[in-house]
Amino acid sequence: MIKLEGITKSFGSLQVLKGIDLEINKGEIVSIVGPSGAGKTTLLQIMGTLDEPDAGRVEIDGTVVSRMKEKELSAFRNHRIGFVFQFHQLLPEFTALENVMIPAFIARVPSKEARMHAMEVLDFMGMTDRASHKPNELSGGEKQRVAVARALINNPAVILADEPSGSLDTHNKEELHQLFFELRERLGQTFVIVTHDEALSKITDRTIHIVDGVIKV
Ligand SMILES: Nc1ncnc2c1ncn2[C@@H]1O[C@H](COP(=O)(O)OP(=O)(O)O)[C@@H](O)[C@H]1O
Ligand SMILES: [Mg+2]
Repeated sequence: MIKLEGITKSFGSLQVLKGIDLEINKGEIVSIVGPSGAGKTTLLQIMGTLDEPDAGRVEIDGTVVSRMKEKELSAFRNHRIGFVFQFHQLLPEFTALENVMIPAFIARVPSKEARMHAMEVLDFMGMTDRASHKPNELSGGEKQRVAVARALINNPAVILADEPSGSLDTHNKEELHQLFFELRERLGQTFVIVTHDEALSKITDRTIHIVDGVIKV
C-alpha cells in the first residue's frame, strides 16, 4: 500500500532523513516512534505527498507519486489520503459537520451527498448530536473525532496521523486509539501513526523506530 525507497531529505545543511526504505501493507496499522527531532513528521509529510524528498521513490496505493505534477498530486491526496494532526486543525468558524464536509467539497461531491456521508461518518463516531457545534464548543476528544471524520470523508486508502492523541487525556486517548482499530475492521484502511504513546505503539501491528533519520532495527 505504501512503499518508500531510499528517501533522503535535508533542510539546509541538516540531513533529516538519511535513506529510508519502508513497506506498509494494506490494512496494516503501523506506529512510528522515536525521539523528538528524529524526522518522524518529515517522513509522514513525505508519505502524505505534502513534502517532497530530495531523493528516493514514494509509491502509494500502486501510484508512484514522486513523479506527479502538483495539480494531479493534490487531487490524488484529496481522494486517497486522510490526515489527522496533533492539534485538530478544524476551521473555527464552521460547524463539526461543515468541517467534515470540506474535503468532499474539494472533491466536488454534490453538497447533499457530502452532507449525508458526513453525517454517517459522524454517526459512526457517536458524534451525531455534536454535528452542529463549532470546534470551540467541543471537548478535545470530540474535536479529534471530528478531525478523524474529516480524514475519512472521501474514503481514503490511507490515514496518516501525526501524534493524534498527543493533546488528549488518558480516557480520550484510549477511545481514539480504539477508533482506529474499529475503522480498520469496518473500512479496511491502512494507518500510519506517529506517536509518543507507548500504550498505542504496543497494540499496533508493527512499530517502526526512527533514530537520527534512519530506521533502527
Ligand atoms: N521546514 C523545515 N525547515 C527546517 N528544518 C526543519 C523543517 N522541518 C523540520 N525541520 C528539522 O528537521 C528535524 C526533524 O524534524 P521532524 O521531522 O519534525 O522531527 P520529529 O517529528 O521526529 O520530531 C528537526 O531538527 C527539525 O527542526
Ligand atoms: Mg513531529
